[in-house]
Amino acid sequence: DWNMPDYIGEAVEKIRAQVGTDEVILGLSGGVDSSVAAALIHRAIGDQLTCVFVDHGLLRKDEGKMVMDMFSKNLGVKVIRIDAEQQFLGHLSGVNDPEQKRKIIGREFVEVFQVEAGKLTNAKWLAQGTIYPDVIESAGKGKKGQTIKSHHNVGGLPETLNLKLLEPLRELFKDEVRKLGVALGLPHNMVYRHPFPGPGLGVRILGEVKKEFADLLREADAIFIEELRNTPFELPPVAGIDAGKAPVNWYEATSQAFAVFLPVKSVGVMGDGRTYEYVVALRAVQTLDFMTAQWAHLPHSLLGKVSNRIINEVRGINRVVYDISGKPPATIEWE
Ligand code: XMP
Repeated sequence: DWNMPDYIGEAVEKIRAQVGTDEVILGLSGGVDSSVAAALIHRAIGDQLTCVFVDHGLLRKDEGKMVMDMFSKNLGVKVIRIDAEQQFLGHLSGVNDPEQKRKIIGREFVEVFQVEAGKLTNAKWLAQGTIYPDVIESAGKGKKGQTIKSHHNVGGLPETLNLKLLEPLRELFKDEVRKLGVALGLPHNMVYRHPFPGPGLGVRILGEVKKEFADLLREADAIFIEELRNTPFELPPVAGIDAGKAPVNWYEATSQAFAVFLPVKSVGVMGDGRTYEYVVALRAVQTLDFMTAQWAHLPHSLLGKVSNRIINEVRGINRVVYDISGKPPATIEWE
């Protein structure tokens, strides 16, 4: 276990020695690893770092604003935000197959990043939030792991851009990365967020991705997450939940929780009339390693409140269901 102030001091010196007066670019995803890498590198070299944040239109509610506020406003990091929603949704139009969708999102991500990186002509380094488990994983494992990693870490860029790799988190485990993030001044809520897949809401909208669906899903998902955060967790701690402390609410007592948009319409009643609208599924799991997971036994009162709020507040959704499938055989994501 590292003593964080010492660790930061050493890491900062190492980064400075490595890059000298060169410029560095980093693809900021809003996830924990790239965020902590950005904060650490910024601590070391300030404005020599430029971050590129690609908004693919498949982010959660207010996520883009949150990332920009935290890095640009609060930490004073140079961040270029690319609004690429139309580009991504355009390429996803008419595509139903989950793996095809992932491929398109990964490809466009590299494309957009490459164009922006190309504009920063002085950059000599590409920084990545690669952590120790990624290093081990890429030393040869399953197909899906490779896919996840290559997207997550913007695979293929160093060769095409002729950039050297800067990976200051390579020796750290996730819990150490989180502690480092807090020590660097990132908010606890941000550093202990649930993981969010690179393809974002693209794999949580079943089948074809449409802006209308993404907008409905963002609202439903935000309500679910808000209620999880607002509902106290009073049972004994569940083994294997890494919240950095005993969980105090149901968000912290789950490893991952989100809403899934089902492009299926069902009949409902609202006031005097019938409705014929879409369905949202809620997914909440507890897991140590994300390889296996159990569905979270959320209190019925919490589920009821989330369902009422989604149906009343999100026009276009008239039915909410809860996913009670473990992994295996189900996966955590629905695609
Ligand atoms: P599954 O659905 O395979 O998910 O049980 C296990 C963990 O991996 C995440 N996940 C992804 N992360 N790109 C990512 O960056 C992906 O394509 C992807 N697919 C799944 C998922 O959110 C869960 O934490």
